[in-house]
Amino acid sequence: MNLNLFLSKNSLLTVMLGFSLTAQGVENNVNVKHLANEQNIVVLDTVKKFLLLPVQENAPEGKVNIIVNNQFQLDQSINVRLARERVDYYVPLDLSAYAGKTISIDITGMPSSSLCWEEIKVSDTFDSANREKFRPVYHHTPVYGWMNDPNGMFYKDGVYHLYFQYNPYGSMWGNMTWGHSTSTDLVHWTDEGTSIVADAWGTIFSGSCVVDKDNTAGFGKGAVIAFYTSAKPSPWGDVQSQSMAYSLDNGKTFTKYEHNPILTSSERDFRDPKVFWYAPGKHWVMMLAVGQEIQIYSSPNLKDWKKESSFGTMQGAHGGVWECPDLVEVPVEGTKEKKWVLICNINPGGPFGGSATQYFVGHFDGKVFVNESPTLTKWMDWGKDNYATVTWSNAPAGRCIALGWMSNWQYANNVPTTQYRSTNTIARDLTLYKVDEELYLRSKPSAEIEKARGKKINLPAFKVSGIHEVESLLTDNNGAYELDMIIENAGSSKIAFSLVNGKGEKVSMYYDVVRKQFVMDRSVSGVVDFSRDFPAVTVAPVDNTDTIHLRLFVDRSSIEAFGEDGKFVMTNLVFPAEPYNKLIFESEENGYTVKSLDVYRLQ
Ligand code: FRU
Repeated sequence: MNLNLFLSKNSLLTVMLGFSLTAQGVENNVNVKHLANEQNIVVLDTVKKFLLLPVQENAPEGKVNIIVNNQFQLDQSINVRLARERVDYYVPLDLSAYAGKTISIDITGMPSSSLCWEEIKVSDTFDSANREKFRPVYHHTPVYGWMNDPNGMFYKDGVYHLYFQYNPYGSMWGNMTWGHSTSTDLVHWTDEGTSIVADAWGTIFSGSCVVDKDNTAGFGKGAVIAFYTSAKPSPWGDVQSQSMAYSLDNGKTFTKYEHNPILTSSERDFRDPKVFWYAPGKHWVMMLAVGQEIQIYSSPNLKDWKKESSFGTMQGAHGGVWECPDLVEVPVEGTKEKKWVLICNINPGGPFGGSATQYFVGHFDGKVFVNESPTLTKWMDWGKDNYATVTWSNAPAGRCIALGWMSNWQYANNVPTTQYRSTNTIARDLTLYKVDEELYLRSKPSAEIEKARGKKINLPAFKVSGIHEVESLLTDNNGAYELDMIIENAGSSKIAFSLVNGKGEKVSMYYDVVRKQFVMDRSVSGVVDFSRDFPAVTVAPVDNTDTIHLRLFVDRSSIEAFGEDGKFVMTNLVFPAEPYNKLIFESEENGYTVKSLDVYRLQ
C-alpha cells in the first residue's frame, strides 16, 4: 500500500492504517495526521510495548517526541533518520510506560510523502538477533544502535561495569545516552539496557563513575556515582556542563542529583569528567578536557568543585581538541614504584590521521600534574582505531585496566555495518617500562582473554627462506582467533607476513629490521571504499628485531597486534568479505625461523 498516492504534502488528514503486517506479526493501529510545514502527529489508541521506527541512514533527521495529556514526555526530542524512500532497519521507541493510554507521537521535519508513514509499526517485540557478519565474537558491541566512547567503567563485587556513549535510535552518532553492559571476565558482556538518558540539561556525553566507599557525598556508603557532561543543544551549538547521578543498586539505575549541573563554564569544549579519589590528600579529583588543555579540580564531597590547575600548553600533540582524560597511578616494572600517567585523547591530530590516544608520565600532588618528559609525544596505540581510552575505577588487585573505542572519527559513522556500529578493544593491563631512562606504557592483553581460548593448533618450528604459506589457520574458521608467534631473525632485513583470504584480500605486516619498525597495511584488506581515510599503513617503533614475539587478535572486523608483550600495540579495523584463513611468510636475505606459532580459536 503506497500512501503517497493519497497524501499531498501538508494536508491535514487522518489515515487509519488498519492493515495487518503478518511478516512482522504486527497488527497496526497507527493513525497519522499531517500538518503544515512537515509537522505530523501519530495517534496511538492501543499502546503496545514499542513503536518501531523505520530508519533510512542517509536521510536527514526528523524530531520525535511523545505527548501525553498535552505534555511532552521527553526533555530532549530524539533525532531519527526516518525512512523517506527506503527502510534500512527499525529502531524501537519504548512505550511500555504508557500502556493502556492514548498517546500521540509528535514527528517534525518529515514530509508527508515519506515512506515512514506506511512502515511505522507498533509491536510487543523487537527482534535484536544478530544479523551482521562483521559483528565480533569476543569484543564488546551494542546489541543494536550506535556506540562511541567507553564511559563510567567501575568494578564492584566481582562485576566489571562498562557504560558507553550510545544512540538507541540509529546506528550513527546522536541522542547521546549511557548504554550499560556488565561482565565478570572482561570478555563476555551482558547487555543491561540504557542507563542514563537525556534531561532538561541536555544529552549525556562521556564521563566516569566512582564507588563512594566512605559516603563523602551523602548518598549512601558504597553508592556508585556517575559524572557526565550534559550537552544541551542550542541554535549556536552544544552547551556543555558537568552533572552527576547516583546509584544505590550497583549501577543498575541512577537518580540524577537535584542541583545539577555541578560545574559550568563559558568554554565551548568543556567535557568528559574523570573522577578519582586522591588518598594522600583525602579528596576527590576531577580531570576535565577543556579545548586543548586538561583542567584539574578538587572536591571533598563530589558536589562542590574547585579549580586547581590546568595542563597542556606546550605539551604533547595539539592537532585537535583534547577529550576523555584520565589520570592513573601505574606500576613501574621491576620496581615497587608507581608513576602518574595522564591519558589524553585527541581528535583529530593522531599519528595516522583522525583520533588517537596520547599520554604523559609524571608527578601529581593532588592538584598539579607535571610531565617528566615535556619534549616528547607518547602514543598509546599505533593503529588508527583506538580512541577515548580510559581505565576502570576501583579495579581489583591494584590493576590498571584500560579500554578504548575501536574506531576513528574520520569514518566511524560510515563503517560497513548497520544493525550496530562500533566495537570496543579488548581490555588491556597497563604497566610502565623503561628504555634509556624514559618511561613508556606497556599495554598487555588482560589475562582474562586466555579463558576465551578454545581449540588450539600448534605448528612445529619452521625456517622461512623465500615464501612459506600456512594454509587453513583453523578448519572451522569463523574469523575469531589469536595468533601467538615467536620468530628468531637470522639476519633478514625484513620479516614479512600477511593474513589472506580466498578472495585475495589481505593485511600485510612486516618488521623493518633496519628502521626498527612494525608496519601494518590494510589498503587491500576487504571493504575499504567507504572512506578515503580508511585504506592506511600504520607504523610502530620496535625495540628488538632479533627475537620477535607478536600476538595478533583477529575478530572478524579487527586486528589488534601486541608486540613484545605489549611494548607496542596497533589496533586496526578491517572488513574482509570472508575470514582470513592463510598466513603467508616472506623473507629477504638469510631468512628467519618461526620458532613457534600457536593459533587459538577465541569464543
Ligand atoms: C569523544 C567525544 C567526547 C564526548 C563524546 C560525545 O569521542 O567527542 O569528547 O563526550 O564523544 O559522544
